[in-house]
Amino acid sequence: MSTRSRISARISAISESATLAVDAKAKAMKAAGRPVIGFGAGEPDFPTPGYIVEAAVEAARDPRFHKYTPAGGLPELKQAIAAKTRRDSGYEAEASQVLVTNGGKQAVYEAFATLLDPGDEVIVVAPYWTTYPEAIKLAGGRQVSVVTDESTGYLVSVEQLEAARTERTKALLFVSPSNPTGAVHSREETVAIGRWAAEHGLWVVTDEIYEHLVYGGAAFTSIATVVPELGDRVVILNGVAKTYAMTGWRVGWLIGPPDVVKAATNLQSHATSNVSNVAQMAALAAVSGDLSAVAEMRAAFDRRRQTMVRMLNEIPGVLCPEPKGAFYAYPSVKELLGKEVRGRRPASSGELAELILEEAEVAVVPGEAFGTPGYFRLSYALGDDDLVEGVSRVGKLLAEAR
Ligand SMILES: Cc1ncc(COP(=O)(O)O)c(C=O)c1O
Repeated sequence: MSTRSRISARISAISESATLAVDAKAKAMKAAGRPVIGFGAGEPDFPTPGYIVEAAVEAARDPRFHKYTPAGGLPELKQAIAAKTRRDSGYEAEASQVLVTNGGKQAVYEAFATLLDPGDEVIVVAPYWTTYPEAIKLAGGRQVSVVTDESTGYLVSVEQLEAARTERTKALLFVSPSNPTGAVHSREETVAIGRWAAEHGLWVVTDEIYEHLVYGGAAFTSIATVVPELGDRVVILNGVAKTYAMTGWRVGWLIGPPDVVKAATNLQSHATSNVSNVAQMAALAAVSGDLSAVAEMRAAFDRRRQTMVRMLNEIPGVLCPEPKGAFYAYPSVKELLGKEVRGRRPASSGELAELILEEAEVAVVPGEAFGTPGYFRLSYALGDDDLVEGVSRVGKLLAEAR
């Protein structure tokens, strides 16, 4: 018998997606007839707008789209993405600088696979979205986390970033609005962070997938646009999933300097080839159209955001800074850990989330998934009634903590 491992070290090091695991457990309980309310999923509860679906139906009928198309994306979609980027963030890019990917996730993976050599360090602000560490690790890179907390509304400072920089630092990952915290950096902060990166010759990988979901007085700023000093060391990640309620369609993109885009396209040409043409044509309708659908969703999310934050802060032991973007609240539950609830003493946010799922039939994602134990992530992209009912159940249960 061979003593070699069945699964490679590289792949066995990948953790299961904690957000998907919570969602799967909640769905299994629901299927078993239990009235579970899930705050786990990171997707809008709205259907994809009709005109986008129609474009896909039409594309499915066109024999041109039954065949392979260029691995890097349909030329008309690349053109439209370049135009949409100019419109929405002011960043100027040629169509040739766009690579259409199988969702934003593939863009994340390909960006790091293209930029990193073994040992290269990437500065990542924690709490961070669960996919980044895995993509960095798979590329052979080393993640250096800079931890933020509720005291600054999860905003990072240049001083914190500088303290994490070493000779091996190759890139900064910048995500504003952030998943999981909803933190949004101001223009001034974004400029300062970008200039710091430029001064030290770092690459900036900026994930702009929540660009249109900002609330109140907050505004989205593209670091790529406001810090021209970054020159050809900036890679933008984006996609249609969150803006157009298109999570299942799997269309994202990467915009970067020509050499990066060429290399990443080579990788994609061997890994997956072109993204489904039908989905690309749906994305073309989405990015070429106006932003009225996202304006409607944004109004609903904003209302739910305010309700959720108010209700969470009314629960003793829960502290929730106001998220300014995306569709997540990220409260601290540290004060509740070690207290007794229904005969159990959860010592971690993971254990507390499990207790809440079993006793209150509400699914939340524990902070362990985002590199900061002691917190929960709750998505407010679900119906108003379920949201109120779910947070009320959590509040009632946690009121028993002694
Ligand atoms: C910050 C961030 N970036 C990228 C993505 C990728 O989205 P998708 O692969 O569905 O396009 C997500 C999805 O949750 C996200 O939260």
